Amino acid sequence: MSEAVKKAARLSVAPMMDWTDRHCRYLHRLLSRDALLYTEMVTAPALVRGGALHLLAHDPAEHPVALQLGGADPVELAQAAVLGQQAGYDEINLNVGCPSDRVQSGAFGAVLMEQPALVAQCVAAMRDAVQVDVTVKCRIGVDDQDPEVVLPDFLEQIRGAGCARVTIHARKAWLKGLSPKENRDIPPLDYDIVMRMKDRFPDMHISVNGGITSLDQAEAFLAAGLDGVMVGRSAYHAPTDILATADRRIFGSGRDSSAEAAVHGMLPYIDAHVAQGGKLGQITRHMLGLFAGRPGARHWRRVLSENAHRPGAGSALVLEALAAVAEAALLAEASQAG
Ligand SMILES: Cc1cc2nc3c(=O)[nH]c(=O)nc-3n(C[C@H](O)[C@H](O)[C@H](O)COP(=O)(O)O)c2cc1C
Repeated sequence: MSEAVKKAARLSVAPMMDWTDRHCRYLHRLLSRDALLYTEMVTAPALVRGGALHLLAHDPAEHPVALQLGGADPVELAQAAVLGQQAGYDEINLNVGCPSDRVQSGAFGAVLMEQPALVAQCVAAMRDAVQVDVTVKCRIGVDDQDPEVVLPDFLEQIRGAGCARVTIHARKAWLKGLSPKENRDIPPLDYDIVMRMKDRFPDMHISVNGGITSLDQAEAFLAAGLDGVMVGRSAYHAPTDILATADRRIFGSGRDSSAEAAVHGMLPYIDAHVAQGGKLGQITRHMLGLFAGRPGARHWRRVLSENAHRPGAGSALVLEALAAVAEAALLAEASQAG
C-alpha cells in the first residue's frame, strides 16, 4: 500500500457522477492540499472498448487522485486499470456501490455485492496489472442480504485478492424499487457494522462513507478507530466547511485555506479554460457552494448562475461575484453592530 495515498485516505471526497469532474477536483484541491480526491466513475468498457481516454484527463495539481472504475470483467478491468495508471492516477478504485439502472443492466456496481468471488477476481486481475493501490468502494449489502453475513465474507474475499483498503457506504442498496437518489437516503445508515468490520479486519484500511456532514463527525470516526472518512454530498455543497480546515484538523499539517483564497486560485485556471474555448459555467457550477452558510452566499450564487452562460463570461465575473459577497458581509456586520 502506498503510504502517501493511505495517509491521504484519512479524508476523501467521494466519487460522484457529473459532480466530481476535473474542474470540481481542481477546486477541492485548492481547499485541501492533503485530502484524497476521487474521479467520477468511468466504466472499463468505455475506456477499453470505446477508447474514451479523454475521460482520464486531469490536472497534475489534483494529486493525490484516485480513478474509480465500473465494470465486472476481470480482463477488461485490468486493462482499464493499466490505462488509469498510465494516465497518472494514484489509485484505482472499483465501484461496488452504485445502484443505477444503467449500471445494473451492465451487471456491475452494487449488484456485485452478490458476487464476492467475482469481485475478488476483478481485484486480483487489477492488482496483477498495476503497481498503484487497488481499492474497493462497497455497500453493506443489497436487497434482502444480511449484512452481518455478507459483509465479512465480502471483505475476506477482497482482502484475499489483495485489496488492503476499502470504503464502505454504510447502508444497503435496494436494487428494486428505489431510484439511485433514494438509495443514497432511504436505506438506513448502519455505522456500527462498519466499526465492527474494523475490529474484525484490523489489518485492512477501512473508510466509512454515508451521511457525514461535518469535520467534527469525521474526527469522531477517526478517533473511534476507523482509518478514513469519505464525504460526498456535503463536500460538494459546502466544500469550504469540509475541506478548508481539513489539512490542519485531519492531517495535522497546520494550514487552513478559505473560500476567498480558492476563488483567487481558480482565476488562472478559469482563464486558461475559457481561452481554450471552454465555458465558464462548466467550472463555476462547482463553485456555487463555496460561501454556503455565510452572508452573501445567495448573491454569490445568483451572480454566477445568472451570468456564467453569457458570451464572453470569464474570471472578471467571478471577481464581481466575490465583490458582492464582500459587500454582503460588510452589510451583515454593520447591521449586527447597529
Ligand atoms: C450526484 C452523485 C453521483 C454519485 N456517483 C457515484 C459514482 O460515480 N460512484 C460511486 O461509487 N458513488 C457515487 N455516488 C455515491 C457517493 O459516492 C456516496 O457514496 C454517497 O453520496 C453517500 O455519501 P454522502 O452521504 O457523503 O453523500 C454518487 C452520489 C451523488 C450524490
